[in-house]
Amino acid sequence: MPEGGHAARLAAEIGSLRQDSYVDGPIRAMAVATMFWGIVGFLVGVVVAAQLAFPLLNLDLEWTTFGRLRPVHTSAVIFAFGGNALLCTSLYVVQRTCRARLFGGKEMGWFLFAGYQFFIVMAALGYVLGVTQGKEYAEPEWYVDLWLTVVWVAYLVAFGGTIIKREEPHIYVANWFFLAFIITVAMLHIGNNIALPLSLGHAKSYVAASGVQDAMIQWWYGHNAVGFFLTAGFLGIMYYFIPKQADRPVYSYRLSIVHFWSLIFLYIWAGPHHLHYTALPDWAQTLGMVFSVMLWMPSWGGMINGLMTLSGAWDKLRTDPGLRFSVAAVGFYAMATFEGPVMSVKAVNALSHYTDWTIGHVHSGALGWNGFITFGALYWLVPRLWGKTELYSKKLAEWHFWIATLGIVLYITAMWVSGIMQGLMWRSYDELGFLQYSFVETVAAMHPYYVIRMLGGVLYLSGALLMAYNLWRTVRGETAPKVAVIRAHPAPAE
Ligand code: HEM
Ligand code: HEM
Repeated sequence: MPEGGHAARLAAEIGSLRQDSYVDGPIRAMAVATMFWGIVGFLVGVVVAAQLAFPLLNLDLEWTTFGRLRPVHTSAVIFAFGGNALLCTSLYVVQRTCRARLFGGKEMGWFLFAGYQFFIVMAALGYVLGVTQGKEYAEPEWYVDLWLTVVWVAYLVAFGGTIIKREEPHIYVANWFFLAFIITVAMLHIGNNIALPLSLGHAKSYVAASGVQDAMIQWWYGHNAVGFFLTAGFLGIMYYFIPKQADRPVYSYRLSIVHFWSLIFLYIWAGPHHLHYTALPDWAQTLGMVFSVMLWMPSWGGMINGLMTLSGAWDKLRTDPGLRFSVAAVGFYAMATFEGPVMSVKAVNALSHYTDWTIGHVHSGALGWNGFITFGALYWLVPRLWGKTELYSKKLAEWHFWIATLGIVLYITAMWVSGIMQGLMWRSYDELGFLQYSFVETVAAMHPYYVIRMLGGVLYLSGALLMAYNLWRTVRGETAPKVAVIRAHPAPAE
């Protein structure tokens, strides 16, 4: 592609953005919120990691204990950082690919932005004050759940309405993934939060199901929060932004359709792998395992589709740090979706469950896949959303890439070692049949790995701070001075 052609197309693209035909104000706000909540979430992650290594940091105050801050971390990274990234990108993508203005106009866009931030703040305040229904990733009490339902239905109306009024006959595959994410999350959220409040003036409620049924519904929700929030939605991002960054069409459109249907059909059955060796009937556990192993295929099909989109454009990896993030993200996706099916096999889960191995698996997906694909999309999107031709500094973005990658490697390798060691220590017996290690010995053995994980987190957070600075200067329209190449010896004359 000649340079001139590229510049002309970029200018045309920016020109069309300036026409004010799309609703972009709220999308810009969502991009800022993604960055803001990302930093908050990573920071609280570093704090809880530090608390696990140095329990003194719980500060002996009820509001700052690990138990209360942990859900602040998980909700901040998944729902605040990930949720804003998904709102931002899906609303940007649906308007462009449908060539239609957002259904409900800018009022709808601003309602979604403000309503969603209000949900996050209400949820986080509740956690710190000790208000929780004790379901992982669904901790908020009934009044927060009701508010989120209103916002989410509005999101579905806005997204679906834009698709219905589209001028483009075709519905691009990224929108399929976004729509599946929005619909399924609505279904999961309502299904898992059916509860009876003590009274309307009381924050506490009791969930409708109990015992093993409650556990089953919770992990049907929990696993599909991974499958539809952290996977399907982010695959929507992959299917739009990688082709844009690589300047190539999706490798195989047919594969993307097969990928879509097989992924959403299989994911929904895999939840019981979170409940191996529990009171859940054995057949249900085996069903969960079998569907999880089958999930490997669509996951890797999608991964191959993302990576192969770069064929003929691999050289762009050298010059486009945003694309580098996106491609590394797909690599981490491959890793997490290979590891997940392995961990779902009962014999493996007998070792991995309750250990840091799970935490390592979570963060190779979360930091590598969700974090990196979001960073890649933002590096591409922010200059365009603010009508700028280039990023403030590619060099800083490269630094971000390497610092964050090192952070992930430290985090996940530490957790693999500590997790497997933990599992093996728990199950080792001496020759008389007694447990070889007391529990506290296993905790003490974890300490060095918890310190390494914390350092990995600090690196990941530092990279995100560099990114925020870079994007802020980009929005202000600045360009970093280029570093001059000084030759020690002048090149010989031709
Ligand atoms: C600076 C980066 C991060 C650090 C230092 C960090 C640290 C932690 C720590 C210490 C825990 C508790 C582990 C335990 O209970 O043993 C945790 C849990 C968790 N984090 Fe992070 N985290 C980071 C980023 C993220 C991101 C970006 C996401 C998602 C997009 C994420 C998702 C989660 C989830 C889902 C859990 C719960 C895991 C489980 O219960 O199995 N984290 N994190
Ligand atoms: C084919 C895909 C995948 C399969 C089959 C799978 C399977 C599993 C299994 C077996 C566990 C451990 C359950 C336990 O012992 O309690 C687990 C935990 C988890 N996985 Fe995956 N995984 C997959 C992909 C991913 C991806 C891409 C992410 C993205 C971030 C992810 C996030 C998580 C989280 C957050 C947990 C911890 C849940 C909790 O206990 O709180 N997984 N997964």
